[in-house]
Amino acid sequence: MLNFEFHNPTKIIFGKNTIKELDRLVGKQARVLIVYGKGSVKKYGTLDKVKSALKGRDIFEFEGVEPNPRYETLMKAVEIVKKKNITFILGVGGGSVMDGTKFVNLAANYKGEDKTDLLKGEYEVESVIDMGMVLTLPATGSEMNCGAVISYGDGKFPVKHNLSYPIFSILDPEITYTLPKKQISNGIVDSFVHVTEQYLTYPVGGIVQDRMAEGILLALKDIADKTLNNPTDYEARSNLVWSSTLALNGIIGKGVPQDWMTHVIGHEITALYGLDHGQTLAIILPAVMDIRRKEKREKIVQYGERVFDIKTGNIDEIIKATRGFFNSLGLKTKLGDYGIKEEDIEKICNNLIRHKRDNLSETGDVTTPIIREILKKAF
Ligand code: NZQ
Ligand code: ZN
Repeated sequence: MLNFEFHNPTKIIFGKNTIKELDRLVGKQARVLIVYGKGSVKKYGTLDKVKSALKGRDIFEFEGVEPNPRYETLMKAVEIVKKKNITFILGVGGGSVMDGTKFVNLAANYKGEDKTDLLKGEYEVESVIDMGMVLTLPATGSEMNCGAVISYGDGKFPVKHNLSYPIFSILDPEITYTLPKKQISNGIVDSFVHVTEQYLTYPVGGIVQDRMAEGILLALKDIADKTLNNPTDYEARSNLVWSSTLALNGIIGKGVPQDWMTHVIGHEITALYGLDHGQTLAIILPAVMDIRRKEKREKIVQYGERVFDIKTGNIDEIIKATRGFFNSLGLKTKLGDYGIKEEDIEKICNNLIRHKRDNLSETGDVTTPIIREILKKAF
C-alpha cells in the first residue's frame, strides 16, 4: 500500500425527512444564499422544505445553475454573495449545483481581480464562507469531496481546494425519487466509473481498498435494476445514494494508484458535443480497458472475477460484460451512437493538448497517439 494522508471534514446527515435538520446545522443569525438549478427543486417542493427549515434567517436565492455549470452564470452569484453580505451558502441540487456552489464560495473569497485564475489553479484563498449542501441527485460525490468541475469557453476545468469541503451534506434518498430515469442511469455509471478510476490500475497490495471498491461496484450492480424501475424502493435508492457518495469521498483512492483518464477524455467530449457526463464515461471506460489491457491486466482480471464472476481471465469477455451493464441501464457505449464522426477524433485530441491533458493514466504515459487509439476503439 502507498503512503497517504486522509482528511474529510464533511458531516453527513442521511435519511428520510432530514432537510428539517438545517435548522440545527445553520446558525440562527446566518444570511443564507440558497443556490439551485433550473427549477426542479421548486417544482418538486424541495426548496419550500429548505426555506421552511431555515425560517427566521435572512434568505436570498440564486436560481439557474445549468448542468455543467458555467463560469459566467456562477459569477452572477458571486455578486450576490458580496452585495448581500452572505454568511452561509447552501447548494440544493445535483453535482452541477454543488460544484457551482463551491466555485461561487472560492471566487467570492479570492482577492485577485481575474477569477478565471481559479480555473488555471493559480490562486490562493485563505478562508471561505460556511457552506452546506442538500443533495438531489446521487452521482458525483461532490457532496463529500472538495472538487468542482466548471465549464468555461470550450473546456471543463477541475477546481479543487481544501476549503471546498461542505461543512455538512444532507442526503435524503426520498428527494431523489423525482429524478428521470436518464439521470439515475447517468448517476449509476458515474459512481461506477469513479470507483474504476481508483481501482483499475496496478496492484499495490491495497487489499482493503480493493475490497471496498469491489463492494461498491457490486452494490451498484445489485440495486441498478431495482432503483431504475422502481424509483420509490427506499432500500435500493438509499443504497445508490450512499454508494455514490462513498465512490468519491476520497476513501477508496487513498494508498492506491489512480487513473482519471476516462473522466478527462469524457470532459472534452461533453464540452465539445454536449453529451451528459455519465454518457461519456459509458463510452470511454470500455475503450480504455481495451487499449490498456496490458498495463491494467491484473486488476482487470480481478475485477472480472470478483464483480462479474468471469473466471476465465478473458479481457474481451470482461469488457463485454462492462458494456452490457451500461447498456442494461439504457446507456449507449459508442461515440457514433451520438452522431460523433471519426474525423472528430483530432478535434478531441487537439483540445486535450490545448488544455495540457495529454499525459494521462496511472503512470502518465498515455500521450496523444494512445488517446487517439482509445477514441478509435470508442467507435
Ligand atoms: O437544474 P435542475 O432543474 O435542478 O435539474 C437537474 C438537471 O437538469 C436535474 N435534477 C437534479 N435533481 C433532481 C433533478 N430532476 C428531478 N428531480 C431531482 N431530484 O438533473 C439534471 C442534471 O443535474 P446535474 O447536477 O447536472 O447532474 P450531475 O449530478 O450528474 O452533475 C454533473 C456535473 O458534475 C460534475 C460533472 O462534470 C458535471 O458538470 N462532476 C463533479 C464531480 C465532483 N465534484 O467531484 C465529479 C464528477 O466526476 C463530475 O465530473
Ligand atoms: Zn464523474
